[in-house]
Amino acid sequence: MSQFQTEEEAINWYESQPRVLTKEFIDSIPWNDVKNHQINEKFIPVLFYMRDVERLTEVYYKELLSTPSGRNPWVRRFIDKWSTEEPVHGETLNRFLGELGYPSEEKWFEKVKKDMPFSYKVSSKIASATANMFGSRFTPVHMTIGAIHEMTTLNGYRKLWENANHPVLTYILRSIAREEAAHVFMYSTIARIHLEKSQFRQKLTDYIVEKFWTPVGQGSKRREDTNYVIQTLFSGPEGIKEIQKYVSGRMRDQFPGLEKAAQKVTDHMACILSKTRLY
Ligand SMILES: [Fe+2]
Ligand SMILES: [Fe+2]
Repeated sequence: MSQFQTEEEAINWYESQPRVLTKEFIDSIPWNDVKNHQINEKFIPVLFYMRDVERLTEVYYKELLSTPSGRNPWVRRFIDKWSTEEPVHGETLNRFLGELGYPSEEKWFEKVKKDMPFSYKVSSKIASATANMFGSRFTPVHMTIGAIHEMTTLNGYRKLWENANHPVLTYILRSIAREEAAHVFMYSTIARIHLEKSQFRQKLTDYIVEKFWTPVGQGSKRREDTNYVIQTLFSGPEGIKEIQKYVSGRMRDQFPGLEKAAQKVTDHMACILSKTRLY
């Protein structure tokens, strides 16, 4: 993967990538073997959280479509494909939980949507109105936040397979991670291209991320649930260093003008990990 200079080059690359989680792949998962391996119970709420957040992509996709970012033809092509990949991640994790002995009711996703707090709907309307006010200058904000979410998701999955040490889960998550890596690349590429257009876009994005960014899923899920996932996966001396290296560090390397935003991600995650209530 080289560094693309235009959105068109990036989207052509992404659309040429075959899916990893095909029906053949899902059929190849040794589902009968899931119960033969132990998993620490502390990871079960983490798996449910990841399942829900993956499936809720459909909500975020619709919100994005109602903004100028969603009306950008290249972004539209990217999120059209992206929004078909994420729900499969959620459904695959749901099947894993079922095989492990944690079956869901048939309409579980309806319940997840119904349980979204009212505050999410309010903040989503405010975010959408703000995006419409700034027009296409808001696109790097959406794409940068998307990139941070995908980077933290990818690293969260890696931490989960390393720590849970369940062979079938590792097989599934390593495959999901290949698609997440493509999402990181796409969001980051489009964000960079839009940030390079003007200093105003850089300042706006830096400001919004610094003031308003929260970890992936928070808002549609409760803050306590988000914090539990982060504390379970990233506790220990290595956790915050990995966030600095693989998330904040990459933001500094790839995105012009986002110093405060990068620092915010480190500080916010450090607060959650130290269980300090400043976030
Ligand atoms: Fe995903
Ligand atoms: Fe993703």
